[in-house]
Amino acid sequence: MQENTGGVQQGDGKHKRGAMYNFFVLAVVVLCLRRGVGQTIHRRAALFNTLENFRVINGDLIKRQRSQSLGTCTQQCLSEPSCASFNFGSSSDSRGFCELYKDGGDVTLSAKPGWLCGKLLDKRQFVKPPAECKTWRTKDGGCCVFPFFYQGKLHDKCIFDGQLWCSVTDNYDTDRMRGACQDFNFTFTTLGAQGETGPSNTSGYQGTTLENKVTLQKGIQIWKVPMNGTYVIEAWGASGAVGRQNNSCSSTRAGGKGAYMKGCFNLTQGTSVKILIGQRGSNGKTGSPLPGGGGGGTFVVLNSGNPFIIAGGGGGGGAPSNEYSEGDPGKITENGSQSGGFNGDGGILFVEDPPSANLDAGAGGGLIGNGKSGKITKGGSSFNNGGLGGKSQSGGNGGFGGGGGGFQHPGGGGGYSGGGVMKKSGVTIAGGGGSLNRGINQVETEDVNRDDGKVVIVLVEPEK
Ligand SMILES: *[C@@H]1O[C@H](CO)[C@@H](O)[C@H](O)[C@H]1NC(C)=O
Ligand SMILES: *[C@@H]1O[C@H](CO)[C@@H](O)[C@H](O)[C@H]1NC(C)=O
Ligand SMILES: *[C@@H]1O[C@H](CO)[C@@H](O)[C@H](O)[C@H]1NC(C)=O
Ligand SMILES: *[C@@H]1O[C@H](CO)[C@@H](O)[C@H](O)[C@H]1NC(C)=O
Ligand SMILES: *[C@@H]1O[C@H](CO)[C@@H](O)[C@H](O)[C@H]1NC(C)=O
Ligand SMILES: *[C@@H]1O[C@H](CO)[C@@H](O)[C@H](O)[C@H]1NC(C)=O
Repeated sequence: MQENTGGVQQGDGKHKRGAMYNFFVLAVVVLCLRRGVGQTIHRRAALFNTLENFRVINGDLIKRQRSQSLGTCTQQCLSEPSCASFNFGSSSDSRGFCELYKDGGDVTLSAKPGWLCGKLLDKRQFVKPPAECKTWRTKDGGCCVFPFFYQGKLHDKCIFDGQLWCSVTDNYDTDRMRGACQDFNFTFTTLGAQGETGPSNTSGYQGTTLENKVTLQKGIQIWKVPMNGTYVIEAWGASGAVGRQNNSCSSTRAGGKGAYMKGCFNLTQGTSVKILIGQRGSNGKTGSPLPGGGGGGTFVVLNSGNPFIIAGGGGGGGAPSNEYSEGDPGKITENGSQSGGFNGDGGILFVEDPPSANLDAGAGGGLIGNGKSGKITKGGSSFNNGGLGGKSQSGGNGGFGGGGGGFQHPGGGGGYSGGGVMKKSGVTIAGGGGSLNRGINQVETEDVNRDDGKVVIVLVEPEK
């Protein structure tokens, strides 16, 4: 993906034979960095301080190889991220040898006719942004080195002293090379998963701040708080699927939109957080009628089971005859709607009138309790039971995050308490899941998200 091209020009070559002198080698490097689909091209120039008839004799050798010219040897040092100095041989017995040395430690030079040594003046400028960082990225694409020495102490995270920064070598006290830490912003998504089950891999996070930072447990994302501080957490529940009479019917009843919750939390470094991103309910595909599956709730819950924030999913849309309604949106109240659950329980199926009617649909799951199932259609599972969406024979499954299945009737949305399904005065409505917010400075909005769920976590104030 990355390549270096370019040439090398030598400085003033006029000199007295045998004399030792300094000159500069100007290397022009074109780094083509490709990340994702976008492509950026950086053009940079570097200065090597070189010394003729000297050789590095004591250093950390990376490799020794043959190079056609001084220019090639320079290029090889530039393309080796840890290379900071090199020797190049020009006498008959050393000709073409290129020895690359690592940065750091003491480099000892010794007079050696027939050799030339070079030292990169500002190495950091030339380090290729690595494809992967095990630690944390700097804003210019490099990697923080953890732990690093600063003021005589070891640090294993970015330091906040008005600005968040880290050392890009393991010793800031001696090397004085720092980078601004990338913002601590994290966007959690469904990772491309659809339907009643969650994601199976985290490849969708490559190149984001969540790369290598999330593991999956049956579709639930496990993430560790990277540093102490105050964070804003935003969560969106997923929407319910649209309902139709049959596959050729163009008239539809919309599913309810997901709710939005935002709150501010003090989080402690290393705390393990479980995040379930609600997925949209599925449309029914076979048979008639084809009401929609319920949308999944989006959950941010401590490993202990204590919830931080939960945003309710919308109920599925009914099949469009006079008796059917649009799905309810995910609610900003803790209770689900339309015979929804309360206190973290799942929703139920409830016929008010006519009393003889029955419902075949699934209600939404809550944090603790599953949604009620119909005769052949499943309710959504609770978060504690894995959060699977309820299955339906028509394909109108509930979304991951406890959405209920839609079959003869639409499915309820998942959430803190699941949405129910209710028939009243002949009209059937799928309820939205309830929401919960344990943060401060709360913002809560109903009826906002016609899509899959999402969670955004931003560090707004690191602890000093
Ligand atoms: C991080 O989030 C803050 C607050 O929402 C925003 O101002 C900033 O631009 C974001 N940074 C990145 C890199 O997304
Ligand atoms: C990763 O998950 C996505 C979305 O579920 C899926 O499309 C893709 O095939 C998966 N990739 C691998 C390697 O399993
Ligand atoms: C983070 O906060 C916890 C709890 O207050 C504290 O025990 C810990 O020392 C803090 N960690 C750092 C690195 O400041
Ligand atoms: C689909 O539903 C529409 C509206 O109810 C109806 O007019 C049409 O006949 C139905 N088509 C089929 C194939 O059932
Ligand atoms: C975080 O802790 C500080 C200090 O105890 C407190 O002033 C602040 O209100 C807390 N913030 C939140 C979001 O709980
Ligand atoms: C939630 O539902 C319970 C049980 O029906 C009820 O007692 C409570 O008042 C409801 N809460 C709100 C805010 O409506």
